[in-house]
Amino acid sequence: MSDVERTEFELPKQVEPSASSRMPEAAVDTRQQDGEQDAETTLRPRSLDEFIGQPKVRDQLTLVLTGARKRGVTPDHVLLSGPPGLGKTTMAMIIAQELNTNLRMTSGPALERAGDLAAMLSNLTEGDVLFIDEIHRIARPAEEMLYMAMEDFRIDVIVGKGPGATSIPLEIPPFTLVAATTRSGMLTGPLRDRFGFNAQMEFYDVPDLTRVVDRASKILGVTIDADASVEIASRSRGTPRIANRLLRRVRDFAEVTSDGHITLESAHGALAVFDVDELGLDRLDRAVLSALIKGHGGGPVGVNTLAVAVGEESATVEEVCEPYLVRAGLISRTGRGRIATAAAWLHLGLTPPEGTLGLH
Ligand SMILES: Nc1ncnc2c1ncn2[C@@H]1O[C@H](COP(=O)(O)OP(=O)(O)OP(=O)(O)O)[C@@H](O)[C@H]1O
Ligand SMILES: [Mg+2]
Repeated sequence: MSDVERTEFELPKQVEPSASSRMPEAAVDTRQQDGEQDAETTLRPRSLDEFIGQPKVRDQLTLVLTGARKRGVTPDHVLLSGPPGLGKTTMAMIIAQELNTNLRMTSGPALERAGDLAAMLSNLTEGDVLFIDEIHRIARPAEEMLYMAMEDFRIDVIVGKGPGATSIPLEIPPFTLVAATTRSGMLTGPLRDRFGFNAQMEFYDVPDLTRVVDRASKILGVTIDADASVEIASRSRGTPRIANRLLRRVRDFAEVTSDGHITLESAHGALAVFDVDELGLDRLDRAVLSALIKGHGGGPVGVNTLAVAVGEESATVEEVCEPYLVRAGLISRTGRGRIATAAAWLHLGLTPPEGTLGLH
């Protein structure tokens, strides 16, 4: 390729593994507090064996990767979907690690123009893993270029503008696309169909999260009682990122108030200070429930109305709060809007009115 063509596109900015442009400052699931990102990097499992939980995804992925390795080909493209903090980025890094290849990282919002993607693709070497985070936010022209790259390992680069524009075919070395999304429903059909493997990450159960807490304690060099690990795990909204973060807050509490060893008592103390309730709900979760119940009699209410009521973006309410509130059986999504269940009324200390969903 000549220098002239190369100047047609510039390198998109590479995205740090744990950086997020999506979450507003106040989001519950923030990774933007000081030191949080470093801690995430330290605590990230580095191999499939180290990765706790998600047995189905792990088994399926092991098959996909082993099969490809045996046949000496690059594995099929992988789509990882699920709520924030469940290990999608971690899994993408593990895939590259297991394949012993480079991981190139970018994200949907960074691929604004087809040229951004072309630059990324033309810099790949054979067998690389290309990780596109937040793939649901990729711009249309880049998405269309991606179709061809995924299917035929080839793209058409448009050089020039207007009637003089020409399309130059460009071969791309075989690569594996690993894409992550918190909103798989926003992916277009053609894009979704091009993934050979669609891994849906689920919320973690308490035993798995307890293992996450125990593992992180070892890495952080803190000692913790078994009942304290279980307590932290059960208040982590099914999410390893939150488990790790709560552990760090409890460690702070234990260091300040005692000798640093974590007991059930210090866990309770810290969780009270940081406003995490028995179900693991934080202020934003409770604000959403409260807006739904106290502001709108339990619904149905549209997500935008709820978001305005709690002063957050709809995307945050939809991607960060709702999946867990639904999974915890506190709200239900219906065609007409969100409805609070009897459990949600009771959680706020209120009596659910007759006819409330889940009231016996
Ligand atoms: N299975 C696991 N075992 C242990 N720790 C985990 C696991 N999954 C995730 N973690 C921890 O949780 C943190 C968040 O994981 P990760 O960044 O991969 O989530 P994500 O799904 O990419 O989130 P987002 O959608 O916000 O980008 C990691 O830094 C890691 O420490
Ligand atoms: Mg991620």
